[in-house]
Amino acid sequence: MIISSATDYREAARRKLPPFLFHYLDGGAGTETTLRANVDDLQRVALRQRVLKGSEQLDLSTEWFGTPHRLPVALAPIGLAGMYARRGEVQAARVAAERGIPFIQSTVSVCALKEVAGRCDQPIWCQLYVLKDRGFMRDYLQRARALGIRTLVFTVDMPVPGARYRDAHSGMSGRNGPLRRVVQAMLHPRWALDVGLLGRPHDLGNISAYRGNPTGLADYIGWLGANFDPGIDWADLQWIRDEWEGPMVIKGILDADDARDARAFGADGIVVSNHGGRQLDGALSTARALPAIAAAIKGDMTIFADGGVRTGLDVVRMLALGADGVLLGRAFIYALAVAGGAGVRNMLDIFEKDIRTSMVLTGVKSVREIGPEILAARPSD
Ligand code: GLV
Repeated sequence: MIISSATDYREAARRKLPPFLFHYLDGGAGTETTLRANVDDLQRVALRQRVLKGSEQLDLSTEWFGTPHRLPVALAPIGLAGMYARRGEVQAARVAAERGIPFIQSTVSVCALKEVAGRCDQPIWCQLYVLKDRGFMRDYLQRARALGIRTLVFTVDMPVPGARYRDAHSGMSGRNGPLRRVVQAMLHPRWALDVGLLGRPHDLGNISAYRGNPTGLADYIGWLGANFDPGIDWADLQWIRDEWEGPMVIKGILDADDARDARAFGADGIVVSNHGGRQLDGALSTARALPAIAAAIKGDMTIFADGGVRTGLDVVRMLALGADGVLLGRAFIYALAVAGGAGVRNMLDIFEKDIRTSMVLTGVKSVREIGPEILAARPSD
């Protein structure tokens, strides 16, 4: 099949992956209204077409927390990335390092932080959730620090897992899940060989490292459900702020008041995000939420955004709406699932080319200059 975009990678991933994995990645919460709105609202952001602005020398580089990056994107933390390709986190992190962009590793990754950090020539970023088991959180932060990880992305929009209806249908959860997953694996032999057999062990690497015994995929959903802490508030995070010396980015902000609270808390950055439409179905799309947040805190903290980004043009749109950087989630996992690191590399090439084209056509020379001036219209509030 011909691949020229993230949408093509999605279709190829749908064919290659066992359905329980494809739908876990592709799906969202409830009726998936926010999931769709992320894509649709972003695509409705219209840009000013400008001409004769002489933008031959384009600068796509940016700097976050004192470190330069070659593109204004980072690979988002995605749980179970190592189920989508053989040792998937390692493959993706190596490509991110090669391309000079951050790789943010999820708490609930297949590979442990140590495996990924040890095989990558640039420091990775790590992500952590608010969990009931504070011992785990402390241990994870200590391990991260010992590996030289400086940037912590702290996810706050998952005090409880969202209602993921697709998972029960797909075999990710629900009755006969383990049996259905085995049958699906047998029916998807390319995945079964590459990941099912050669990609073992399929632990949740960081959790096994803490517990001292292997945890498997079957524990994943149960562990998420049992360990998230709905009682948490900003004061509970203070010890992490006090202990963590490097930059701390709060992920999952969708409201200007919460953005102000994150600033008061002492965050270095935020990710404007509704968790890819996987949490509160009916929450605003990122494209609609971002301008008010940027109006409230732009310049005080680094603003990242994610949700619905499928092209380099979408990256430019997010920057125009007020982001300083964009996290790629599903887009890169689709590519990883189809062709491993080579897929991620190709997908980043496609994005880069598209960002360049969009910059020339909107008449900007540097991604750091992109802002509301290039907006023609945006989805109304
Ligand atoms: C985990 O972060 C999920 O969205 O499933």
